[in-house]
Amino acid sequence: MTGNRCRIGLVGAGRAATRHASTLATFHDVTVVGVTDPDVGAATRLAAASGGVVATSLAALLALRPHAVYVCVPPDVHGPIEEQILDAGVPLFLETPLGVDRDTPDELARRVASAGVVTSVAHLWRYSAAVARARAVLAGRTIRLVSGTWLDTADDAPWWGRRARSGGPLIEQVVHLLDLLRTLVGEVVEVYAISDDVPPPQVPDADVDGVTVATLRFASGAVGTLASTCRFTGKRRAGLELFADGASVTITEDGCEIRVGGQSEWHAVDREASHRAAARAFVDAILRREARDRVLADYAQAVRTHRLACALARSAAEGRPIRLRTG
Ligand SMILES: NC(=O)c1ccc[n+]([C@@H]2O[C@H](COP(=O)([O-])OP(=O)(O)OC[C@H]3O[C@@H](n4cnc5c(N)ncnc54)[C@H](O)[C@@H]3O)[C@@H](O)[C@H]2O)c1
Repeated sequence: MTGNRCRIGLVGAGRAATRHASTLATFHDVTVVGVTDPDVGAATRLAAASGGVVATSLAALLALRPHAVYVCVPPDVHGPIEEQILDAGVPLFLETPLGVDRDTPDELARRVASAGVVTSVAHLWRYSAAVARARAVLAGRTIRLVSGTWLDTADDAPWWGRRARSGGPLIEQVVHLLDLLRTLVGEVVEVYAISDDVPPPQVPDADVDGVTVATLRFASGAVGTLASTCRFTGKRRAGLELFADGASVTITEDGCEIRVGGQSEWHAVDREASHRAAARAFVDAILRREARDRVLADYAQAVRTHRLACALARSAAEGRPIRLRTG
């Protein structure tokens, strides 16, 4: 790799891409080479801010010979973008969700495995030092009970309120909580979700559910509940409470309280640090093969979390429990 600088292309120039570009700008060994987005104004603004050029198509972006591409696009446009990037043998960093349903991500997971390129998905809780500490405390303990909440608002992006465009809140928002659950408790084998069938009032023409509750059974034998809503006017809380033999853990986006016996400890969750750590792990994995294991959520991991979110959405839509294959 020339001069050990990592050349990165950006697909999508909206809010998520802008945030990633500003994180990448703090790395001395990264250059953003180009940005592509059908919204030329957005591409032009982000290219100017990040130092790259505007590429008029994905093919034009790939012609700039990036070492890796960030894909930060609405959930319903995944598929052809990743296929084109994988065909070029270029590593991928992807924003969540991986798609609006199971089909496209399942097919892409097969293609990623055969391409053998580095992939990373933005499940940022995994990169938090507080979550790592919780994992260490929980290791070897039997987790009995889990209670998760995602109490949020509806996003004002034009694609967000339509199920066919975003997948709905379980797939677009709650997926992060599900990934944290999988990280700490392991695989889920059965879910049963109930939604209220009432869209959030803030979004005109929305057809996504405003409120969902669910029960979960884990392969380990632990059981859990989940409550989510997007009906608030701002984000109230997203997080988990876990009760294990001899220990309990509460994690939100702000901090983590761990109780063991009579002792308790508190660790702040530094979201900016998690963002940086995820980007750094990806860049290091591109620059040095031996650093690949620093990526904590690759496509193969993230697609499992995505399938869990899809199972919950399907359970709510069909009004019945769904069993998941864990193999
Ligand atoms: N991990 C997280 O915590 C997190 C946070 C924010 C957003 N996200 C996710 O990131 C993704 C993008 O969200 P956002 O907030 O940036 O949305 P956004 O609407 O602000 O931006 C999306 C951009 O993608 C562009 N786009 C659409 N089709 C494209 C295509 N075929 N090629 C290139 N660009 C295309 C749009 O023109 C738009 O500029 C969403 O899936 C969202 O759920 C995740």
